[in-house]
Amino acid sequence: MLEELKEANEYVIKKIVEKNKLILEMEEYARENNVPIVTKEVAKYLEFLIRSSGFKTILEVGTAIGYSGIVMLEAMNHKDGKLVTIEIDEVRYEEAKKNFEESGYKNIMSYLGDANEVLPVLVEQKECFDFIFIDASKGQYQRFFEESYKMLNKGGIIFIDNIMFRGYLYKEYPKRFKTIVKKLDKFIDYLHEKHDFVLLPFGDGIGLVRSKL
Ligand SMILES: C[S@@+](CC[C@H](N)C(=O)[O-])C[C@H]1O[C@@H](n2cnc3c(N)ncnc32)[C@H](O)[C@@H]1O
Repeated sequence: MLEELKEANEYVIKKIVEKNKLILEMEEYARENNVPIVTKEVAKYLEFLIRSSGFKTILEVGTAIGYSGIVMLEAMNHKDGKLVTIEIDEVRYEEAKKNFEESGYKNIMSYLGDANEVLPVLVEQKECFDFIFIDASKGQYQRFFEESYKMLNKGGIIFIDNIMFRGYLYKEYPKRFKTIVKKLDKFIDYLHEKHDFVLLPFGDGIGLVRSKL
């Protein structure tokens, strides 16, 4: 969460009342096992975007335990919709599979592997998506984006989470993050220059790209 918006974010989060049992259980699991998942206000925004757009096909880069995946499926509300999701960590992948089963949704294809390898396979298979959610290793965001963009349907949206990386893009940061910070900063310039892009300073920074029509 961006430090400057902390109090506003906290207020927004406090106002969100979650009733879905599985979602609540996943939030607890994530807290107890230090699994990073989207923050509640970002989940709410994701849900709102998907519900209001009528999107039917979603790709997620960075599944973790399936939390945002299930949030998106709930919002999609299409019997013929589908979710394709990629996770590199085996323990999280297995936990996500368990949660997907419990959710009752059948239209999910989850890949265990490095998105750098899985995305080109999906491109090769001519997969297409209305909505693409990028939420994995930040140092590789531009690669994930460029590969994913090839599969974005006209009128579709790519949602890039944590693009402002804890606020380190505009304030002092630990030296070990120098490479990631520089890469993300350049990536934002690239998106502004080449794409229909908007940068939103909430959550941990959200980038939205709309496909060229
Ligand atoms: C922030 S978490 C995803 C959270 C999830 N989207 C949610 O909100 O429920 C990022 C995940 O991306 C995974 N990841 C990191 N690098 C990856 C890569 N190269 N390919 C696939 N997954 C990756 C991590 O293991 C981690 O579980």
